[in-house]
Amino acid sequence: MAVGILLVGGFGTRLMPLTKNTPKPMLTVAGLPVTEHQLAMAKAAGITTVVLATSYLSEVFIPYFGDGSKWGMKLLYAVEKEPLGTGGAIGNAAKLLTGDESIVVFNGDVLSSHNLKQQIQEHEENNADVTLHLTAVEDARAYGCVPTDSDGRVTAFLEKMDNPITNTINAGCYVFKSSIVNSIPKDTVVSVERQTFPELVARHGRVFGFIDDSYWLDIGTPKALLKGSVDLVSGVAKALALTPELIASHSPQRLIMKGAQVDPTARIDGGSCISHGAHVQAGALIDGCIVEAGARIGQGAAIKNSFIAAGAHVQNFAQISSSFVTNSEIIHIPQ
Ligand code: GDD
Ligand code: MG
Repeated sequence: MAVGILLVGGFGTRLMPLTKNTPKPMLTVAGLPVTEHQLAMAKAAGITTVVLATSYLSEVFIPYFGDGSKWGMKLLYAVEKEPLGTGGAIGNAAKLLTGDESIVVFNGDVLSSHNLKQQIQEHEENNADVTLHLTAVEDARAYGCVPTDSDGRVTAFLEKMDNPITNTINAGCYVFKSSIVNSIPKDTVVSVERQTFPELVARHGRVFGFIDDSYWLDIGTPKALLKGSVDLVSGVAKALALTPELIASHSPQRLIMKGAQVDPTARIDGGSCISHGAHVQAGALIDGCIVEAGARIGQGAAIKNSFIAAGAHVQNFAQISSSFVTNSEIIHIPQ
C-alpha cells in the first residue's frame, strides 16, 4: 500500500492577511481545513500513513490533527526549521518513512477529485519512477507545463513559463518510487519542479503523466479559495471529508456545521459555509462566503463573497463584499 507526504510548509503569501497566523492548508473550505479534505481523498485511495511536511507555522497542525487516529489514519510530522523547497521537504519527510512502498506526494493547497487509486495503479504497472497527475487549464502561466508523448511519457517539465507550450499542467500530486525520493539530496533546498523533475526527464527516467480532467483547483489565490469552498458545498467538487456526524444541515446553497449557531431569520446562500462554533445573528445575509470557526456575524449584516476568519467579529448591519475579514483588519480582495 502507498504512503503519503503532504507539502504544507509554504508561506501562503497571496492569501495574506489570512495566512498571518494560519498556514494556507489550515484555512477553512466547506467547514473544514483544506488539509482535512485532502486527507479524506488520500484515505479513500487506500493511503492511511501520511507525513505532514511542515515549516511555516508548523505548530498549528499538531493540535488539530494529532496522531490521526480520529480519522483512522497514522499522521507523522516533519518540521523544516527553514523552508527546504518542495524537494527538500519531500526528502526531509521521507526520513520518517521506512518501507519501500510507493510514496504519494500532495501539494497542500489543491482540491482534486481525480482518480488517485488509478494513478497509483498505473504508476506501478508502468514501473515508473514518478507519475504526475496532469490536468488542462486555460492559462498555464502560473503552473508547471508538462508535455507528454503518445505513450504518456513526460517529455519536459517547465515551471511557470511566460509562453506555455501546452495547457497540460502539473496538478501537484505525484506518485514516486521510494528509491527516487531517497535520491533527493537531504537537508538542502531543492525544488522538485525546477530540479528533480527536469533532471529526471533529462536523464530519461521513467516519468509518466496521469491525465485526469476531473474537478481540480489550486486554492492559493483569494478568488480560488472562495470558489473552492463554494464548489465543495454545492457538490461540483467531491467533499469526502464532510461526514454526516459533522453537519447540522447541508444543501447545494449552504453548509452549516454542527456547533454553529445560526439565527433562523438569517439567510445563508450561494454555497456559503458556517463552521463549528461560528455565530450568525438575526437577519444577517451571507452569500458565497466562508465563515470560520468562532467568527461572529452581527445582526442585519450583509456579507457577500468574503472570508470571515476565525475569531473575527462583523458589526451589526455592516455591509461587506469581496473581502478578507480577520480580528484586526478588513482587506478588499482585488478583482
Ligand atoms: N514543507 C514545505 N516546504 N512545503 C512547501 C515549501 C517548503 O519549502 N514550499 C512550498 N511548499 C508547499 C506549499 O505549502 C504548497 O502546498 C505546495 O508546496 C506548492 O507550493 P505553491 O507555493 O502553492 O506552488 P504553486 O502553486 O506556485 O506551484 C505548484 O503547484 C502548481 C499546481 O497548483 C507547482 O508544483 C506547479 O508546478 C503546479 O502546477
Ligand atoms: Mg499552489
